[in-house]
Amino acid sequence: MGISLYSQCFFCFIFILSMFCITNCFIPNAYSQCLQDQRSLLLQLRNDLRIDSTQSLKLVLWNQTQDCCNWDGVECDGAGHVISLQLDWEGISGGIHNMSSLFALRYLEKLNLAKNDFGGQIPGGIINLKHLTYLNLSGAGFGGQVPIEVSLMRRLVTLDLSYNGLEIENPNLKMLLQNLTGLRELYLDGVHMSSAVLNFFANFSHLTTLSFSDCDLRGSFPYMIFQIPTLENLDLSENELLTGSIPQFHRNASLRTMLLLHTNFSGPLPNSIGNLSMLSKISMHRCSFTGPIPSTIFTLTGLIHVDLSRNFFTGSIPSFYMSKNLQFVDLSHNSLSGSIPKSLFSLPSLQTLKLSNNQLALASCKLHNFSDLTNQHRLELLDLSNNRIIGEVPNWIWEIGNGTLAYLDLSSNLLVSLQKPYHFPSSLRYLDLHSNLLQGELPPLPQDANYIDYLSLANNSLSGAIPKSFCNATQLLVLDLSTNKLSGSISPCLVEKVEKLAVLNLWGNNISGYIPDTFSVNCRLQILDMSMNYLEGRLPMSLANCKWLQVLDVGNNNINDGFPCMLPSSLRILILRSNRFHGQVRCSRSWTDLQIIDIGSNNFTGYLYTKSFWGMMLEKDARLESENNLGISSGFEYNLGMHDKTFGFGFEYNLGTNLGTVKILTIFTVIDFSCNNFQGEIPDAIGDLRSLLVLNLSHNTFVGTIPKSLGKLTYIESVDLSTNQLTGEIPKELTRLTFLAILNLSHNQLIGPIPSGPQFRTFSTDSFQGNIGLCGFPLNISCRHAGEDDNVPPPNPHQKDEAINWDYVSVALGYVVGLGSILWLFFFSRSFKYKFNDQTEQTFQKIFNSKDRKIVHRGRTNRRRQC
Ligand SMILES: *[C@@H]1O[C@H](CO)[C@@H](O)[C@H](O)[C@H]1NC(C)=O
Ligand SMILES: *[C@@H]1O[C@H](CO)[C@@H](O)[C@H](O)[C@H]1NC(C)=O
Ligand SMILES: *[C@@H]1O[C@H](CO)[C@@H](O)[C@H](O)[C@H]1NC(C)=O
Ligand SMILES: *[C@@H]1O[C@H](CO)[C@@H](O)[C@H](O)[C@H]1NC(C)=O
Ligand SMILES: *[C@@H]1O[C@H](CO)[C@@H](O)[C@H](O)[C@H]1NC(C)=O
Ligand SMILES: *[C@@H]1O[C@H](CO)[C@@H](O)[C@H](O)[C@H]1NC(C)=O
Ligand SMILES: *[C@@H]1O[C@H](CO)[C@@H](O)[C@H](O)[C@H]1NC(C)=O
Ligand SMILES: *[C@@H]1O[C@H](CO)[C@@H](O)[C@H](O)[C@H]1NC(C)=O
Ligand SMILES: *[C@@H]1O[C@H](CO)[C@@H](O)[C@H](O)[C@H]1NC(C)=O
Ligand SMILES: *[C@@H]1O[C@H](CO)[C@@H](O)[C@H](O)[C@H]1NC(C)=O
Ligand SMILES: *[C@@H]1O[C@H](CO)[C@@H](O)[C@H](O)[C@H]1NC(C)=O
Repeated sequence: MGISLYSQCFFCFIFILSMFCITNCFIPNAYSQCLQDQRSLLLQLRNDLRIDSTQSLKLVLWNQTQDCCNWDGVECDGAGHVISLQLDWEGISGGIHNMSSLFALRYLEKLNLAKNDFGGQIPGGIINLKHLTYLNLSGAGFGGQVPIEVSLMRRLVTLDLSYNGLEIENPNLKMLLQNLTGLRELYLDGVHMSSAVLNFFANFSHLTTLSFSDCDLRGSFPYMIFQIPTLENLDLSENELLTGSIPQFHRNASLRTMLLLHTNFSGPLPNSIGNLSMLSKISMHRCSFTGPIPSTIFTLTGLIHVDLSRNFFTGSIPSFYMSKNLQFVDLSHNSLSGSIPKSLFSLPSLQTLKLSNNQLALASCKLHNFSDLTNQHRLELLDLSNNRIIGEVPNWIWEIGNGTLAYLDLSSNLLVSLQKPYHFPSSLRYLDLHSNLLQGELPPLPQDANYIDYLSLANNSLSGAIPKSFCNATQLLVLDLSTNKLSGSISPCLVEKVEKLAVLNLWGNNISGYIPDTFSVNCRLQILDMSMNYLEGRLPMSLANCKWLQVLDVGNNNINDGFPCMLPSSLRILILRSNRFHGQVRCSRSWTDLQIIDIGSNNFTGYLYTKSFWGMMLEKDARLESENNLGISSGFEYNLGMHDKTFGFGFEYNLGTNLGTVKILTIFTVIDFSCNNFQGEIPDAIGDLRSLLVLNLSHNTFVGTIPKSLGKLTYIESVDLSTNQLTGEIPKELTRLTFLAILNLSHNQLIGPIPSGPQFRTFSTDSFQGNIGLCGFPLNISCRHAGEDDNVPPPNPHQKDEAINWDYVSVALGYVVGLGSILWLFFFSRSFKYKFNDQTEQTFQKIFNSKDRKIVHRGRTNRRRQC
């Protein structure tokens, strides 16, 4: 028994041994061992490379005691030659030169050095890698001209040089690549090549991918390239000077993705686009296409993503019945008309549908069968804003999607009411109905709406009080009910319970009563605008809880209070204008970020003490100046840049002057103390507010002389000191102020000659009248003893219109702050982070629109309230 067990085990052992030998001893190893020279080349390469060992996942593990063909990122052929080296994302910051041992690995067929930071030019030594079929240097940190040696790498099938600082100018693209006819995939995104000649690619018979995004391509794109039968992916996006048109497509075309966004392609889309049976993604955002959208495009069953936004397409939207796989459709910002086809609402995979900014109607689209919508849909984002949708918001719209609808924008249409009964889907996060014709009482929020983040019903004709149900919407980040006819008072629970609120906009209603003193200790408000209402009483002490508050506007109400010293130090814009604020402006603390303060048309009294009130502004200016000297750019600057880019909302234009660099814009300040009872002298220290743009101290009882230091306010555009009791002469220093567009010194007790200077010649008599002692141009009183030539010919007579309206400036600045906050909001807030980033642009725009209305509105009331 024992023996047989023994023998069994023996045979067992022999069997295992022989199996081992069959696989390891007799058959030559398919992944044979590393050759000594290859191994030492690899080790030398590793020694030469500068590697961040915290990022490297492969090189750091190369172990000398193991077969080099088994090292991570290394592959060998049967003979032990290294044929593939994948060193992407290895934290390499240099160490490859012309004589690098890398280029001695002559058998290499695949080399991937992507996503490192080599620096310097691509070494010409690469020519030694004659067997390379795959070269990936994407984002590898190389710069300069791509070396001519690349043109000799005839076996290349895949070449990826995207996202470096590279250029292909001399030799140009043709010289470099025309002989590499075996290329299938070519990625040159971000490679500068303004002189590229591209037609030679038409002869490349294997080409499947051409990716030329952001290459500075210009001129006319050769249409033959679209027709390369093998071509599957074409990306020409972000070449704004590249022109071209879309040719006819034949049935043998293979195109799957066609990205032309941000180019200057124009002309119509041919019907033969329907021959691109493989097409799945097409983006022509922001090009110059015209004509109708060919109906054939929506017969393509493989289509998933269609973006034709911001072109000049006309006609109606074709039916979508065939493209059942569509997930994303954006036809916004065109000139499409007619009704929105029902078929859109039966696409089973659709997640995003944007049709905004057209002339579309929903009228003929009354779907009654809810089940159609609930069962078939995955729609998350529906944007029909800025169209001609009239009448009721149909209640089926809330049923769209299978509990998926998160973003619904119906703003800027002609909607008058919400069809009842309606139930907001619990998935809804963003609802925008602003700028419609909604009337009647502000509807209570259904309980389903508790998770909404963003709600705007601004600029409608809604009336009644804000329903208590709004207090249950505890997830709200933005609530905009501005410019309606809302009345009643603000529920204490609104500011108490809705703790996440970052923007509360109630301006331009008929809201009365007190501002509740229930701001939560967790208050997150950044923008609070309650201006143009009938609010009374005091500013609540609990506002001090709002530690993030940047903008407070309670202007044009009946608030009767002292200066609100408790306001949080985060404030950047404070507007108390046209209320019944009174007493002295003295606080034992400061607001170092304050940029705009408008406390005009109240009943404030007292002196402007250098130490208290001005102190805070001076401190701030000094700080900003030193920041600028150090070259630190503030977040503000970034927002401005963004702002300009996105909207072309030029501050230069709005402020009526050329302000030069953005840096100056970041620090300007507005002070409006007009129409109060301030007294005493204007402090000399005012000249230290270097960034001051607008100064309005008119209609007070200031005495003494105009400080010479005003001449130091290099950027100032508007100075109004009218209707005070100022004496003495106008300081000559004011003639230095080259940006000064408005000067009003009227109705004081000034004497002597009006200084002459180019800027002063543009002011009319209105600037100086009511001062019996002034003489010289433009007044008709000559200065007999001054010895000046007061017969200066009148300069250009064109009367300046009210060039700068203070409100205009303040609001313009308000945008900036608002923008920063909203930016924050949208980039960091929970539910917007993933899906709606591309909507931020539009959101900004809405907030801007709202502010535009405000300018108009404010202009009106101001005329009423001249003090
Ligand atoms: C290298 O491999 C050997 C054997 O596989 C092992 O004992 C040794 O610890 C490894 N060295 C490193 C640095 O990982
Ligand atoms: C190049 O490598 C990067 C980083 O691994 C990768 O994302 C990219 O797809 C590669 N390019 C090609 C053409 O394979
Ligand atoms: C780099 O090597 C290539 C080929 O080996 C050679 O043609 C070129 O001149 C070298 N360049 C430099 C800068 O040494
Ligand atoms: C391309 O090939 C042709 C013919 O083989 C040759 O005359 C030409 O010089 C080559 N061009 C480059 C840039 O290598
Ligand atoms: C394509 O190749 C043919 C023959 O080699 C040549 O005559 C023609 O000029 C090439 N076309 C382009 C656009 O380079
Ligand atoms: C875009 O193309 C049109 C003609 O299609 C031309 O008039 C216009 O100047 C081009 N714009 C740019 C920026 O090249
Ligand atoms: C593709 O179709 C067009 C027109 O039918 C034809 O001229 C061309 O030769 C075809 N190309 C290939 C590669 O089949
Ligand atoms: C598709 O291509 C064929 C040629 O291959 C052409 O005759 C036909 O007109 C094209 N289809 C459309 C819709 O243009
Ligand atoms: C709709 O949602 C239900 C439950 O969430 C799910 O079972 C169903 O598959 C969804 N239908 C579609 C078409 O996504
Ligand atoms: C607010 O929600 C609570 C429970 O979540 C509910 O009892 C109450 O009726 C709601 N209030 C309003 C006004 O909808
Ligand atoms: C302004 O304040 C003064 C006292 O400081 C008072 O006499 C006057 O009535 C107040 N005016 C208004 C309009 O409240």
